[in-house]
Amino acid sequence: MNVSDSEKIVSLLQGAGYLPTQDSSQADLIILNTCSVRAKAEQKVYGCLGRYKGLKNRNRRLILGVGGCVAQQEGERLLEKVPYLDIVFGTHNLHMLPELVRAAERGERRTEVAFLDNEKRLDLFPAAAAEGGVSRFVTIMQGCDNFCSYCIVPHVRGREISRSSAEIVNEIRKMVDKGVREVTLVGQNVNSYGLKSSGEPDFAALLRRVADIPGIERIRFTTSHPKDISAPLIDCFAELPKLCSHIHLPAQAGSDAVLARMNRGYTRSEYLGKIALLKAVRPDIQITGDIIVGFPGESEEDFSQTLSLMEEVRYGDLFSFVYSVRPETKAAEFPDDISQQEKQERLDRLLALQRALTLERNKSFVGSRQQVLVEGFSKRGDQLSGRTSGNRVVNFAGDPTLTGSIVEVTITRAFQNSLFGEIIIF
Ligand code: 5AD
Ligand code: SF4
Repeated sequence: MNVSDSEKIVSLLQGAGYLPTQDSSQADLIILNTCSVRAKAEQKVYGCLGRYKGLKNRNRRLILGVGGCVAQQEGERLLEKVPYLDIVFGTHNLHMLPELVRAAERGERRTEVAFLDNEKRLDLFPAAAAEGGVSRFVTIMQGCDNFCSYCIVPHVRGREISRSSAEIVNEIRKMVDKGVREVTLVGQNVNSYGLKSSGEPDFAALLRRVADIPGIERIRFTTSHPKDISAPLIDCFAELPKLCSHIHLPAQAGSDAVLARMNRGYTRSEYLGKIALLKAVRPDIQITGDIIVGFPGESEEDFSQTLSLMEEVRYGDLFSFVYSVRPETKAAEFPDDISQQEKQERLDRLLALQRALTLERNKSFVGSRQQVLVEGFSKRGDQLSGRTSGNRVVNFAGDPTLTGSIVEVTITRAFQNSLFGEIIIF
């Protein structure tokens, strides 16, 4: 979501007459787009602003702004805490950025963090610039009504609001005209798309509309809540070949007691049940997830159930985080009773297990043929790189003109973070 918002910020600023630079010492305007999901991300903002203070001393014209979730959380307080900051704008105020920049050019310091409601949803979803590339994010909704007990997102992104399906389809059509072949539909809770807006399709029906757009080859989405994996969504995996064989399905924990205290709305066996239903219609589906370690009251037994869940699901990849107390959340009232050292030890054990699972999964592809959407040169620059439908990175030798097309590759080697293969020439 933040990557997608940053793209919108760039296009709004270009509309206001600014051009991008890679060198912050050359900049007349710096916007920090921030995350507050964990305390560490929030602290980074202050570190960054400290570094930009020197630039501000050297360039009197430099305008400094902070947007996103930390801006939403702190509001006016940020301008008080950071006297050389010019602009603070929240998660619903991206569209106001050109106006805020003009005010800053006149020497005004402003904060805009008011939440918009459903009536104003046109403003909430400014379109990203119609740029090319092979794969793009498309925001379909914002906010969350779930209130997991550890999570700040509902407090800083507000209630769920869905973007109009006509706009979504329109934006994707324009992207296709620029050469885009794959879209990832993003929202904090995509399964709830459309449920609160009359006349809009639900998420499964939206997927079908996107699949009908000529020129779109692949569709992904993130993030979906396990409790909301519905029968119509499972039907989409059965019936829409464009829907990729990958789902990011955060479990957060493997123990029912912890899941209940997290207010996740499912048990371990219900979570596994949803995966079984998905695998029944898409046997090759790759599952990735998120896990929090050291949630208040997590015993060694609870934690061992997280490890056993990982072995049972055999995640292709896992994003794992040490629990971090967030303001305004329910869990902030629970005693944060696991020591930092214990949290770190559990994280290390989890990471070691996941590394083994990822490598094992990657090795299982050796000898198989995979459809790879070519994204361009690999990080090393001497090979082509793309991803399988299951979201594995594959590098291989090939002609760069293949960028944007789907090719068949035989996988010959597996590494920790990627696969290597040979393109099949027909
Ligand atoms: N502490 C640690 N991790 C968190 N996440 C959300 N809130 C917290 C928190 N307070 C993680 C969850 C979520 C991911 C985006 O961030 O795993 O899925
Ligand atoms: Fe946070 Fe839970 Fe909403 Fe995800 S579903 S954004 S973890 S409150």
